[in-house]
Amino acid sequence: MSMRDLIKDIMVSLETKVDDTTIILFKKIGFGDIRFNTLVNEAKSDKFIGDVLHERDPKSVTGFFYNDILVGFAIPRKEGDGYRTGPIFVKSEYRNKGIAKAFVKQLFDNKKGNAYIEENNIASQRLFLSCGFTKQSKSIKDGNIILFLYSKK
Ligand SMILES: CC(C)(COP(=O)(O)OP(=O)(O)OC[C@H]1O[C@@H](n2cnc3c(N)ncnc32)[C@H](O)[C@@H]1OP(=O)(O)O)[C@@H](O)C(=O)NCCC(=O)NCCS
Repeated sequence: MSMRDLIKDIMVSLETKVDDTTIILFKKIGFGDIRFNTLVNEAKSDKFIGDVLHERDPKSVTGFFYNDILVGFAIPRKEGDGYRTGPIFVKSEYRNKGIAKAFVKQLFDNKKGNAYIEENNIASQRLFLSCGFTKQSKSIKDGNIILFLYSKK
């Protein structure tokens, strides 16, 4: 099975009901989707995201829909015997509603995974910690930035 098929397998269309009026849907979206392009431009100006599409497989983009509005995305991939979310982004006005957490929990349900997170990205650290990841001693440097490894076994 190719990596593309594997990714297709893990995130086709999953729905989470947050309350009686809110539905969050995770759905594969086309790279050429105009809504995605708008979101990518927003993500590019986020200090923790940067060059979102650099060396990524655009076919694996998963959109986060909040009552049918595209409010975020991730570009997950398989790596070794685990998974990575790839860049993960939620529009600022939709943050802190549990959207990223619902996605990460579903992606890593019974699966191993890794995430490299900047030492001052508290939101992302909290996100992965609350999804069963633990901080490892390993870190890598990207220029002046230190990224710590968070893993889920
Ligand atoms: C990181 C990010 C994706 C989180 O998305 P989100 O949908 O707001 O996260 P959630 O609402 O699911 O929150 C998950 C957990 O993190 C916590 N959290 C979220 N934002 C937080 C913040 N700014 N400060 C502290 N904790 C925060 C929540 O309280 C929640 O914790 P809990 O489960 O203990 O209650 C979002 O902040 C974002 O897009 N940031 C910019 C891009 C980025 O940093 N991406 C990750 C690195 S590639």
